[in-house]
Amino acid sequence: MNYIITTEQLTKKYKSFVAVNDVTLHIRKGSIYGFLGPNGAGKSTTMKMLLGLTAPTNGSFTIDGKQFPTDRIAILKEVGSFIESPSFYANLTGKENLDIIRRILGLPQSTVDDALELVGLSEFGNRLAKKYSLGMKQRLGLAGALLGRPPILILDEPTNGLDPSGIHEIRNLIKSLPDLYDCTVLISSHMLSEIELIADDIGILNHGRLLFEGSLDDLRQHALQSGFATDNLEDMFLSMVEKDNASRKQRAKL
Ligand SMILES: Nc1ncnc2c1ncn2[C@@H]1O[C@H](COP(=O)(O)OP(=O)(O)O)[C@@H](O)[C@H]1O
Ligand SMILES: [Mg+2]
Repeated sequence: MNYIITTEQLTKKYKSFVAVNDVTLHIRKGSIYGFLGPNGAGKSTTMKMLLGLTAPTNGSFTIDGKQFPTDRIAILKEVGSFIESPSFYANLTGKENLDIIRRILGLPQSTVDDALELVGLSEFGNRLAKKYSLGMKQRLGLAGALLGRPPILILDEPTNGLDPSGIHEIRNLIKSLPDLYDCTVLISSHMLSEIELIADDIGILNHGRLLFEGSLDDLRQHALQSGFATDNLEDMFLSMVEKDNASRKQRAKL
């Protein structure tokens, strides 16, 4: 299998609290990988480690054949990211905001128009960021991640705070990316229903532990075997998490 990101027992501790616990991930090249888990599961912490924003306590990872931490800078050049709600200069236009990021990354000027085009904001590039709707701001955040068309995108809850039509819009945009240009997308969410329409593969995290990893078809199989209706994977996801929580409580009592 051709994996573009693999992690090996990735672990992050904050003092004695284990936020990410022995997580081994396999992300296929060209896929959309849905990284799922309730709030506090450790999704953002994992993504921050992959982006070199926080150091692992243990474990390692490889991105496009490059090993962390040796190839840290080379890794950064390949990854576009969207972490939590992106902030922009309100009194600059969308285009000017992107141009600031472009300069930091040392990319050619043409990448700004290209990124605006990819997210469907070309017409609004010269509008002030403060006049953007929430959905447009999220698009602009995505455009920032797409500058220079990086082969890997790491998107942390990119639909957070959007209304249903905004969610729909961003979801379609993300789904179209691997076809628009050859990229791999790692996207997190706390709702499976939001991801199941676009993801090829799924990883489910709870309390820092990976409970499941596999294709959506594998998850459907798993649902069938566990007696769940496969037309409602969200229920199946929630009960997987509940079961894990219950066995944690049980273990804590012993
Ligand atoms: N800098 C930090 N110091 C201490 N605890 C943290 C820090 N960052 C995150 N955590 C804790 O780690 C856990 C995982 O957080 P996070 O990765 O943000 O989860 P998610 O993105 O899945 O909601 C949470 O319990 C959170 O409170
Ligand atoms: Mg998070």
